[in-house]
Amino acid sequence: MLKGKNIIVGITGGIAAYKTASLVRLFVKAGASVQVIMTPNAREFITPVTLSTLSGKPVISEFFTANTGQWNSHVDLGLWADAMVIAPATASTIAKMAHGVADNMLVTTYLSAKAPVFVAPAMDLDMFKHPTTTHNLELLRSYGNHIIEPAAGELASHLIGKGRMEEPEKIFEVLNRFFEQGQDLAGKKIMITAGPTYEKIDPVRFIGNFSSGKMGFALAEECAARGAEVTLIAGPVALKTSSPAINRIDVMSAQEMHDAAIKEFEKSDVAILCAAVADYAVENAVDHKIKREKDEIPVIRLKKNPDIARAIGEMKRPDQVTIGFALETDNEIENAIGKCQRKNLDFIVLNSLQNKNAGFQVDTNVITIITSDGKKMEYPCKPKTEVAKDIINVLAKDYLKGMA
Ligand code: PMT
Repeated sequence: MLKGKNIIVGITGGIAAYKTASLVRLFVKAGASVQVIMTPNAREFITPVTLSTLSGKPVISEFFTANTGQWNSHVDLGLWADAMVIAPATASTIAKMAHGVADNMLVTTYLSAKAPVFVAPAMDLDMFKHPTTTHNLELLRSYGNHIIEPAAGELASHLIGKGRMEEPEKIFEVLNRFFEQGQDLAGKKIMITAGPTYEKIDPVRFIGNFSSGKMGFALAEECAARGAEVTLIAGPVALKTSSPAINRIDVMSAQEMHDAAIKEFEKSDVAILCAAVADYAVENAVDHKIKREKDEIPVIRLKKNPDIARAIGEMKRPDQVTIGFALETDNEIENAIGKCQRKNLDFIVLNSLQNKNAGFQVDTNVITIITSDGKKMEYPCKPKTEVAKDIINVLAKDYLKGMA
C-alpha cells in the first residue's frame, strides 16, 4: 500500500534512533520515497550516511545545507509528504510539537505538514510517565496526530517499563494499514465490546472464560483504520491497542460492561457485541478470602447477569446498527438465528467451538454471517485481522451505505 507514497521520516536524539534505519529500509522496500530529517542530536546516535544510503536521498538536518548554502524548504517538504513519521520521538520533540516551538528543521516541517503525522515516542520510563509528557501527547492526539504507543520492556537505562519505541515492523504496519483502507467509516461512532468478564467470588477468585479479546480488538483496529471513532469496552485482557482513534474503557464484570455499553450506545451509530459475557454473577460473593475448611465445601450461588446485547436491542433507534456474535457447540445455525432475533440484531457472526481454528484464544476464526432476514454468508478460516475486515465490509456495504 505504500508504493509511490512520499514519507518523511523524522529522527530525534534517542537511543532507539538506530532502529529507524530498519524502518527506512522497510518503507523503501515497499516502494515508498523516503526523506529523512534528523534533529542535530539524532546525528549523535546514528550517522546520516547510513540513512542517506538506505533512503537514497541526502539527509536533511539544517535549514541551510553547508557548502552549497541551499535553503531546505520546510513548506515544500510539508506539501510533498503523504505521511510523516517521527520515530523515535523524544520527550523534548513531543513538547515542541505540542507547543509549536519551531527551532529546528524537523519541528518546523511538522508545523507545515498537511499529511497525517505518526509519532512513535521513545524515552525513559519516568519521562514517559511524567504528567507533562502525558499532557503533551494528549495535545498531539487532540490535533489529529497518530500516536504509536511505546512498548513495555527493558529500557536503555536498564529500568523496566513503558517507553521503548515500538518495533519498526509494527510502525510500518500501522502506516500500511492506514493507506490500505479507504476511510469509508469516517464520521461513524462504533462501540465494541471485547474479551471476557470476570465475576468475583472473593478478593482472589473469580468465574471467567477463555476469551482473549483478540477478535474484538481486531474489529476495533479495523474500524479505526477505516476512519471510525471507536469506543472499545474491554474485559480483562492482556492486549494493547495501537490506533489513536480507539477510546478504550476497561471493565471487569458483566454489570460494569453493561453500564458502560448502555451509556456509550446512546451516542453510537453501531454496536458490535463481541465480548464473551458471563451469563451469571456470584450471588454470595464475599469481600474476604474464603478459607479452606476441613470438612466444608463452599457452595457458590449464582444470579443472572444483564444481557447487554438484548438491552441494546431494546434501545436501538432505526438509525443504529447492532451486530452480535454467537459462540456455539451444537445446533449452530438454529441457535444463532434465535439469538439474532431475540436480541434484535441486524446480523450475527457465528463461530463454532467445533472447529479448533475458531473461537477462543486462537489467532484465526471461521465465521458464518447470518442476517436478520435469513441471508447466510460462509467464510473460510482466516486470521482474526482478516475476519474483522470481512465483517466490517458487510457492515459498510450493506448497512451504512447511504446512511447519513
Ligand atoms: O476473544 P477471543 O479469544 O478472540 O474469542 C473470540 C470470541 C469467541 C469470544 C468471539 O468471537 C465470540 O464469539 N464472542 C461472543 C461469545 C458469546 O458470549 O456468545 P453467546 O452466544 O453466549 O452470546 C451471544 C451474543 O450476546 C454475543 O454477542 C454476546 O456478546 C452477547 N451477550 C451475551 C450474554 C450477555 N450477558 N450479554 C451479551 O451482550
